[in-house]
Amino acid sequence: MKKTPDDRASRFEIITHDNGTSSVLEKSSRQAMHSRIGPWEEAKVLYVAQSGLAARLAASPALGPVVLHDVGMGISANALAALDTLETLESGVPRSLEIHSFENDLTGLLTALDHSEKFPFLQNRQTLLRRLIETGSVEVPNLSWKLHEGDYFENLMNSPVPELIYYDFYAPRIYPALWTTDRFQEIHAQVTRNRSPCTPSEQTPDHGTELYTYTASTAVRAALLAAGFHVGYGTSTALKRETTIASTRLSSLQNPLEGKWLQKLMRSQPAMDVFTPEDWKILRTQAAENRQFKS
Ligand SMILES: C[S@@+](CC[C@H](N)C(=O)[O-])C[C@H]1O[C@@H](n2cnc3c(N)ncnc32)[C@H](O)[C@@H]1O
Repeated sequence: MKKTPDDRASRFEIITHDNGTSSVLEKSSRQAMHSRIGPWEEAKVLYVAQSGLAARLAASPALGPVVLHDVGMGISANALAALDTLETLESGVPRSLEIHSFENDLTGLLTALDHSEKFPFLQNRQTLLRRLIETGSVEVPNLSWKLHEGDYFENLMNSPVPELIYYDFYAPRIYPALWTTDRFQEIHAQVTRNRSPCTPSEQTPDHGTELYTYTASTAVRAALLAAGFHVGYGTSTALKRETTIASTRLSSLQNPLEGKWLQKLMRSQPAMDVFTPEDWKILRTQAAENRQFKS
């Protein structure tokens, strides 16, 4: 259904912080899509630089395209920062970029496009974004960009296995259902499919999968561990002391969570009412088997 300017105004508003950055605020939850450092800085530091996207694009073409899940797309700061990185590399970049953006409500992006003076990174991308919204995909040299409109978890299994996931939903405190063990298990199942030993030609090239997210929530980290990921500390930003990286490969994590983190979690069990006794059982079993806690 076409979204009218009235829909946009009733559901979202633009907020501008005293440092000059702007974001889109969902009125019903009072949640802004981005922190005060602003969408562009957040996208560049926390997602694109931290995931080493430039180095990945410059790696061997035998690895195939860099497949990126952009979850949720929001006003597309993360996806556009990835595209920006692609464009700043020399032409003839060895690996192309394949972005899969997932979004169940494009009203936020349409609102931002109506106010692009507040979002400089959108200004020269209007045509590209409107084409993506209208046709569902765009192809430009070295980039294939597909928009999956709808629920991420419904579209996940029909999408190619990603090398990178930029997991950027609204805060776990407001939308806990998007940050549970079950949800992360669905992702873990998708990213590890076709990676069991079989003949080399049948295998997806195994670069593993890394998931980057802004939260440092103990409950989210525990849910990722329980789902079977290795989990580590992510970079800090001007406003966040820690973020989180989850990976299918322990060797990809520079700073894995250590035994003392796990012990603290286990001691906090009575206070962590987000987990059922069954969740704790899974978490203990996963932690006992997870190589990251064996040293
Ligand atoms: C914090 S914003 C994302 C900001 C974005 N990454 C950017 O670069 O601007 C979260 C987005 O996730 C979307 N969303 C929420 N639940 C979703 C779901 N189940 N599937 C897909 N998108 C969802 C919201 O509509 C919202 O646009």
